[in-house]
Amino acid sequence: MSTLNTAIFQSITGGDNQLVAVVVGAATILATAAVCYALTSKDQEHEFPNLRGVQFYHAWNFFQRRYDFIQSNLQRNPGKSFSFNVHHNKIIVLTGEEARKSFYSNVRFSLHHGYTILGGISPVSTDSKEFEAEDKDITLFNKKLNKLLNKNRLQSILATLLQDIIAKADNWGIGGESGRIDPFVEIYDLIFVMNARIATCDELTKNEVDLKKIRELLLAHHTGNTPASVLLPWLPNSARKQKKEATTRLTAMIYAYVEKRRHSEPTGDAIDIMIADGHATERIVGEIVGIFFVAISNTGVVSCWMLIHLVIHPEWRKKCEEEIQDLISRHFDGSPSSATLYEKLKSIPISAWEDEIPILDACIRETQRISLSVIALRRNMGQDVNIYGRVVKRGDFLLYPSSDANMNPEYYPEPEKYDPGRWLRPDPVPDAAYPFVGWGAGRHPCTGTKAAKLEMKLVLAFFLTRYEYELVDEDGRYPNPLPVQDMNDSYEARPRGATYYLKYKRVAR
Ligand code: HEM
Repeated sequence: MSTLNTAIFQSITGGDNQLVAVVVGAATILATAAVCYALTSKDQEHEFPNLRGVQFYHAWNFFQRRYDFIQSNLQRNPGKSFSFNVHHNKIIVLTGEEARKSFYSNVRFSLHHGYTILGGISPVSTDSKEFEAEDKDITLFNKKLNKLLNKNRLQSILATLLQDIIAKADNWGIGGESGRIDPFVEIYDLIFVMNARIATCDELTKNEVDLKKIRELLLAHHTGNTPASVLLPWLPNSARKQKKEATTRLTAMIYAYVEKRRHSEPTGDAIDIMIADGHATERIVGEIVGIFFVAISNTGVVSCWMLIHLVIHPEWRKKCEEEIQDLISRHFDGSPSSATLYEKLKSIPISAWEDEIPILDACIRETQRISLSVIALRRNMGQDVNIYGRVVKRGDFLLYPSSDANMNPEYYPEPEKYDPGRWLRPDPVPDAAYPFVGWGAGRHPCTGTKAAKLEMKLVLAFFLTRYEYELVDEDGRYPNPLPVQDMNDSYEARPRGATYYLKYKRVAR
């Protein structure tokens, strides 16, 4: 308990009643822990085995280092699903094909209610009317999103997306000619500006200061989910306060932009599209914040790690570069020597970005398979369900780690090896239920797949064609050892323990 208590005390700051609250909190934890230990030591045969020991300790580990917690417990008992408790809620960590099939396809497993556990909000009600209302809400959100992300709209803003990323890159280093960038800042920025363009309006997309602020607020919201803020809701806690403040400020900033658009001449911008659909400002703000939350992190993670994988595997980098040049020569009919990269890239239609670059597609998919860990969550809002003969009770939470499928050696031989070629062979995935879940599966596939792929391809095609680049460490040398990803960092997935840079030199206009 001593490490745990130290961690609790260290993470709590601020508040006049802090000492009293900490003492009361610690006593409550000990009492709860003792009761939970007693209750969970005896597993029932028909239930998913509960992790032995103090449940609070498991919950703490889950919120502290989610990926390591899940992996280490699955490795301890290979092939065996297990459960642990967060407060009074049971979280069942699933593994294996039958479990995956049920997780992704059961109509009563709610995605919305599942993710509430991460914020510490555990909805008590499993009322079916509430579930249906929430489900309808998600369907509506996805419908609206589809309106912003459909092929015609993406085609209509393609050239502007390119201008947005070029304007940002021109600010790198001295005149954008050479220097070094931290991809987890600058490449993320390119992704971020495109999402702002897709989901908001021209005024915000071009406002560097506000965009930076919004990025900071999203990060502050994310880092506000500490173990203490979630597990000890009765204690004063600076992280929770930070999260609340970030949400309020984020909402206020976007609100102002929506109101501004409401009183201006309409354009084809996303906010104007939503206003024209008759939505109230609050509703539009909710949509935009929702899009920022789901859209940015994964797209940034995959783009950054792909640029790193391509340095480590130059044969694939060369193939990608050649494929992009081929794509340009097929679609650009001007004089290649006098045209700018922007003119060349903008001549490529959406359909070609989608269908004509299989090598880039394979590299993206392989990066997604290896470098993106999605911990998917659901809550059973229906009747009890059996998986592997064990019961998932109404109200139980379910968790499925994407690595269970995406890194499965039976599906992907040598799963740790970065081998985009596996996606170019005939029958790349085995005959199993949802063998690749990088874009979700079943009832909740990613609504933004096409937009996300386009964003990543634009950034990668732009970067690989405009620059020669190397991967360097703080001292400017090729890193030895190579960067290792912090899989517990679910927002940015930065390399563990150090900062690495892309040292670039511009080679195209
Ligand atoms: C590389 C980028 C992306 C990846 C890898 C990715 C991956 C995923 C995955 C795995 C899920 C399923 C989660 C689950 O089963 O619990 C999901 C859901 C979702 N994604 Fe993405 N996503 C990406 C980008 C985007 C973008 C850019 C948008 C929108 C602009 C978006 C919108 C959504 C939405 C709305 C859902 C929920 C769908 C539902 O409720 O049925 N995603 N995404």
